[in-house]
Amino acid sequence: EKGGWDSFMDKEIHEEPAAVQRTLFGRLDDEGNINLDEVRIDEHDFRAIDKIIVVACGTASYAGMVAKYAIEHWVRIPVEVELAHEFRYRDPILTPRTLVVAISQSGETMDTLMALRHAREQGSKVLAICNTQGASIPREADAVLYTHAGPEVAVASTKAFVAQITAAYILGLYLAQLKGTVFRDEIHQTLDSLKAMPQKIQQVLDTQPPRVAKAAEQLADANSFLFLGRHVGYPVALEGALKLKEIAYTFTEGFAAGELKHGPIALVDEGEPVVFIVPPARGRNILHAKVISGIEEVKARGAFIIAVAEEGDKDVERYADIIFWRPQCPTLMSPLVDVVPLQLLAMDMAKQKGYDVDKPRNLAKSVTVE
Ligand code: F6R
Repeated sequence: EKGGWDSFMDKEIHEEPAAVQRTLFGRLDDEGNINLDEVRIDEHDFRAIDKIIVVACGTASYAGMVAKYAIEHWVRIPVEVELAHEFRYRDPILTPRTLVVAISQSGETMDTLMALRHAREQGSKVLAICNTQGASIPREADAVLYTHAGPEVAVASTKAFVAQITAAYILGLYLAQLKGTVFRDEIHQTLDSLKAMPQKIQQVLDTQPPRVAKAAEQLADANSFLFLGRHVGYPVALEGALKLKEIAYTFTEGFAAGELKHGPIALVDEGEPVVFIVPPARGRNILHAKVISGIEEVKARGAFIIAVAEEGDKDVERYADIIFWRPQCPTLMSPLVDVVPLQLLAMDMAKQKGYDVDKPRNLAKSVTVE
């Protein structure tokens, strides 16, 4: 059932192009408009939404954080992302015009389910982004946008993450279409970029695994890792850090790269592995320059730099000890490719250390208790 792969995690990472493809499929009509008939929230109610709160846990919450950058940019309404277990106990401000988006692969995470119930009791609409047909969360939600990643068996979530981002982007573009906050042409261009992502993920899977395996071999003895990114690269850094601690049991921390000088740089010592998610360099991207200066700062303190960067990035080539390359894509699409080498790195490091990558210690696939 592993279809020739030696772990479910390996198999599921390789299913990511299909997971994104299938999540997109059927949601775009012949004219290229987004069609969410299945969601069954009245267009009128959708148009009235003035705030989104994403509730989720772990990896699903990082998908929500990525979506926040995109949806706020497209729809011009505030998007908050909150860990489901924190949300529920802090008396959040919810109105009938708040859309609560509950993201969950399993659809059975108790913390997320309780947050959903709390939101509905307060009169807010809840839309579930879920990978499991008929699970508790989609059953109790007002509307469902299924991710079609297929069953995820490995405890560490991989293909569900890219599918969750894809589904949340479709929701964001749908709202932009309804509210008229983005020109039609731009929506179509963005959808084209999204449709091109399965191919780009495939390209990473076709070219980067040997580089990642070599890096894992080189880094297997490291005691700790830092992961840094900005903008959408920030949640990707958090996700990379989570994967590595979950299955390779390596102590990791993920930070927003801009925080470095506000504390984390004190951790950087000779040889400390620091992973940077580098945004595209094209168009004199200010974010790129900022991340490069972060790399310079830690490099000057002797860090060992691992970078996920766009093909042809000369600045990164100058400083990084190891580079995982991704094909060119718009910044908002980059999480879909950038996370792939980080998932592979965690998997390869766990294998190096002789751990069962599909069943990490102390963890369950779905956390059905609070
Ligand atoms: C990480 C991981 C967990 C889950 C979290 C939420 O690899 O698997 O962090 O993402 O427990 O689970 P779902 O998405 O099923 O609600």
